[in-house]
Amino acid sequence: MYILHVALQGCLSAEPIDYGLTADTGGHIRYLLDLVAHAGARPEVTRQEVVTRAFEDARLGPRYAVPRERLDAKTDIVRLASEAPGYLAKEDLHAEHESLADALTAYVRSRPRAPDVIHAHYADGGEVARRVSAATGIPYLFTGHSLGRVKAEATGAGLAPRTPPSGDGVLARRIRTEERVIAEAARVITSSRDEAEYQYGLYAGTDPARVTVNPPGTYLCADDALALPGATRAVRDDLARFLTDPDKPCVLALARPVRKKNLTGLVEAYAASPGLQEAANLVVYAGSRGDLDALEPENREVLEELLALVERHDLYGRVALPKVHTPDEVPALYAYAARVGGVFANPALNEPFGLTILEAAASGLPVVATRSGGPVDIVGRCGNGVLVDPRDPEDIAGGALALLGDRARWEACARAGRAACGYYDWSRHAADYVALCRQVVRPARAPVALRRRRPFLIASDIDDTLTGDEDALAAFARWQASDTRHHFSIATGRSLHGAMEVLREWGAPVPDVMITSVGAEIYYAREHDWDLVADPRWSAHIGQDWDPVRVHAEVMDFGAEAGVIPQGRREQRLHKVSFFCPDDPGWVRRLRAHLAARGLSVNVIHSHAKFLDVLPARASKGHALRYLRARLRLPAAHTIAAGDSGNDVELLRAAAHPIVVANHTRELDEIAADPRTFLSTKPYAGGLLDGVLAFHAGRPGDAADAAATALPPLPRPRVPRDADLGAPLHG
Ligand code: GLC
Ligand code: MG
Repeated sequence: MYILHVALQGCLSAEPIDYGLTADTGGHIRYLLDLVAHAGARPEVTRQEVVTRAFEDARLGPRYAVPRERLDAKTDIVRLASEAPGYLAKEDLHAEHESLADALTAYVRSRPRAPDVIHAHYADGGEVARRVSAATGIPYLFTGHSLGRVKAEATGAGLAPRTPPSGDGVLARRIRTEERVIAEAARVITSSRDEAEYQYGLYAGTDPARVTVNPPGTYLCADDALALPGATRAVRDDLARFLTDPDKPCVLALARPVRKKNLTGLVEAYAASPGLQEAANLVVYAGSRGDLDALEPENREVLEELLALVERHDLYGRVALPKVHTPDEVPALYAYAARVGGVFANPALNEPFGLTILEAAASGLPVVATRSGGPVDIVGRCGNGVLVDPRDPEDIAGGALALLGDRARWEACARAGRAACGYYDWSRHAADYVALCRQVVRPARAPVALRRRRPFLIASDIDDTLTGDEDALAAFARWQASDTRHHFSIATGRSLHGAMEVLREWGAPVPDVMITSVGAEIYYAREHDWDLVADPRWSAHIGQDWDPVRVHAEVMDFGAEAGVIPQGRREQRLHKVSFFCPDDPGWVRRLRAHLAARGLSVNVIHSHAKFLDVLPARASKGHALRYLRARLRLPAAHTIAAGDSGNDVELLRAAAHPIVVANHTRELDEIAADPRTFLSTKPYAGGLLDGVLAFHAGRPGDAADAAATALPPLPRPRVPRDADLGAPLHG
């Protein structure tokens, strides 16, 4: 496979990368070089090229005008000339789209063999790839790295999601470019579920089935970080120039001095909390600087504000703002903070991924991290700290104190982070990445469920029905692998990416069909390697007369006194608005009546005594099952469904053969008592398989045998239930 990358931002070169040489020469270059190094190590990949712009600039040196630079035996950087000869900041790259696309198309055509796939980075790389793809037919992948709509939101630009912004501003133009690029990309690659589901969800052209989550790897492993006593000592001695007591715990931050990193918010939180000042020093490495006047304006402003805050609140002796550090010193900075029993803070207004959180985890340093972006995934998976609202100084200080003031919790977070961060490994990333490239390169086929006839349909809930018992799930998976008579589908309250995450973690079979977000979305597997395609007919069918903004407002209004709050932003879907609500069926009945009286035709679903989902009237797991049965042209009598809780009621009612697992909640008592229902004595997937086999055993001439034999246990997965990750981020 021949993969061609397009990356136009900053000064791209082989190591050593000159970080900060220009404002756009940042972490994405590291990511890209790591990606090609690890993808290139895979046998399927035969050739890689990283295409960037050639430019001449005496200040930046001759390196960036050289047409070809070798990275390794399979990989070159290729620099193509465009119309403008000199260096351009990202804001000015749009003027080169056309000439670069022409140059790249000509380059591709001049090759003895064309690339199989193009992988574009950032909006401008994406636009060039889109044009080259249109001219050559080569599909492209897109990694946005950071998105215009997210920036617009953070800066309060007040742009309506999913509506193209007008105007000639830099940001409006960037967002329009991103919309085009996203709509035509074969796949969008993201690092976290927040990015995949919330951030890309702001774009009208996003198709969730074409968005994948593949977190990058990290190099800093626990051993490196711990084997650094000398370097750690040097960090301490250097900090002694700032701190009265450099052996006291510290709150460590490490980020470029740009607004979205919110370092000023951190200093303000520290300044406002005498308790935190008592418990810890504050150490902020805000990039390396020479003369402040030589910095780019945003960097200079942020640094000046940081220094002014120290002065205003007289934080001398307690706050350190070291002037320089090199990339080699970074492991020792984390190691120092871990050694003094400190915490790492990432208070960014939004953090697309959060590599520093992982580095801290690897170093055994608990974190206080922003609740906006990738850290939600990382802290959820690693259990290495607390999430806070970056706009709330009290929450930031409280989060730090919760760890600093509780040694047992601190230790637990340090241990959990060290143990779990191994997941973020470049080899794993590269394996998934190459698998994705192969999906894109092969000819697209119709979904398995539509091209293969099977007489029966199973629809199973995920949480506490399919999952919950590893051995039982393994036995079900084994039965399913040898089964040839059933379409296997899941019907879940989780979002698509949340469902995929938990199914992969548990080693569940890839379903033929996925009904997600409580029936608001339907996806088909094209092949059983998570190559999915959305059902646009379903969303068109349920989407009529649906106004999620109004639904949100009405429920919040009605529920204010009862303490209703919205679920996290990843759970809010185009056709699903979700809340936490009181455990009070009477209240839910009143809400239904209220919404109906207000003329809203919606479906209100209450489950697990705390979740409240509001969907279009035509959407539910049950409606989705009926629709699916019709699409697969199956008789109603051939549908089997399994569930455990309130959001499965409709699903079970819609199936000819409802299965209730032994571990069901009280919400299913009524259905469980129904004589049509198969109430299993076995919990979880054991109940599911039990019910499926019982269905066939009861059918004349249709006895199935349980081929399931014991399998070795799977590693214990740890996937948090998304809605449980804490209160949502406001503002
Ligand atoms: C899942 C979803 C959540 C929903 C709940 C009940 O936990 O993540 O949004 O409210 O299921 O349907
Ligand atoms: Mg469930």
